[in-house]
Amino acid sequence: MIPGLGADAGAEREARLLSRVVDTISAGLDLDRILQGVATLVTETTDTDVCFVHLLDDRARTLQLRGATPPFDTMVGSIELAVGEGVAGWVADHGEPAVIVDNKTADPRYRYIPALRGEDFTSMVSVPVVTPLGHLVGVLNVHTRERREFSASDVELLRSVAGLVAGAIENARLHRRLADREEALERFAERMVEWQEQERRRLAGDIHDGISQRIVSLFFHLSAAADAIPADPAVAAEQVARAQELAAAALDEARSAIAGLRPPVLDDLGLAASLDSLAHSFPMLDVRVEVAELRMAEHAETAVYRTAQEALQNVAKHADAQSVRLRLSRHRDRVVLEVADDGAGFDTAAPSVGWPGGPGPTGFGLAGMRERAELLGGQLDLAATPGRGTTVRLTIPFLPAAQSGG
Ligand SMILES: Nc1ncnc2c1ncn2[C@@H]1O[C@H](COP(=O)(O)OP(=O)(O)O)[C@@H](O)[C@H]1O
Ligand SMILES: [Mg+2]
Repeated sequence: MIPGLGADAGAEREARLLSRVVDTISAGLDLDRILQGVATLVTETTDTDVCFVHLLDDRARTLQLRGATPPFDTMVGSIELAVGEGVAGWVADHGEPAVIVDNKTADPRYRYIPALRGEDFTSMVSVPVVTPLGHLVGVLNVHTRERREFSASDVELLRSVAGLVAGAIENARLHRRLADREEALERFAERMVEWQEQERRRLAGDIHDGISQRIVSLFFHLSAAADAIPADPAVAAEQVARAQELAAAALDEARSAIAGLRPPVLDDLGLAASLDSLAHSFPMLDVRVEVAELRMAEHAETAVYRTAQEALQNVAKHADAQSVRLRLSRHRDRVVLEVADDGAGFDTAAPSVGWPGGPGPTGFGLAGMRERAELLGGQLDLAATPGRGTTVRLTIPFLPAAQSGG
């Protein structure tokens, strides 16, 4: 009960306070304004001198001052207590009110915070701010300059106010969360569009690097077979058999590209063995293979494999090389793939080289490699001198494979 009033007048005043709290709370969803308004209302109507509203940060287990009556309103946002620290921390920890009538420095729960000028105030009540579902969201404190005995009904009234405030805090948080989610969804939609574009480019790259190039090899084997038929049917048969294998592989690649999957051989053999098998799928090239056994995230392995595939294909198509070296190694957090040939080389400074619309049937190859590298946060370096060979080096961050369950 509020002092100096009869029971009826007190009850009426309490009802008025609660209804004004409801008004303040319904006025909007800006939590800080609500808490400020509530703090002022509480001091006015409970005949106290200052009111503090601390909000609980559940994860950090701290209380933050978010509402206060002047002159302490300037402290809002800058005072933080650990749960268990000070009277408010004790209330948060125990979930029950604390009343200190005088001599609070003697109370073991009390902690002096210079900015809040505890020496100017004598008596205090601190109540937990609890939602209807029993979830603690903060602590509300009132202080008086003069010594005051707070009655049980005073404490009860403050608890009712705290209950209303808890509802408002929960609403504001729900609203905030909804707004955040809406924003995230918008960002996600944007990313989706970007990702779709990338995926289209990737698919175009897969068709160019995988299927088209298998068909190029297929063509080589078929010509070799055709040449060998009259003179050496055994060689012709062997070339046809290789051609059949390549046709099957091209079909697999096509299925994989359609399903947006990575080269099936990677799943079956792993990266090192896949690169080894890839190197030997170019019968016209003498490839020395030095690949480290390492496993990475699927998309990183795919990028390495595709880059090696396109680089070797370029050697086969353009270099007229005596020998080729394919190397894969890891240096701390980076993985390096290198394809070096001793062939014709070319002028890398030519403006159109390696960019869409550049030389070649699609101009996709080098540009695609570069794009893949950049998508992975890496880079593609080209070193070529006309007449002295070409080295393609892909450097990407080492991305460990996701742990499969179990
Ligand atoms: N290893 C290489 N040796 C010689 N020239 C190369 C090599 N790699 C690429 N090139 C040159 O760079 C050009 C661009 O290659 P790329 O982007 O893969 O397109 P494409 O292979 O479809 O022509 C090739 O047309 C070729 O002139
Ligand atoms: Mg190419």
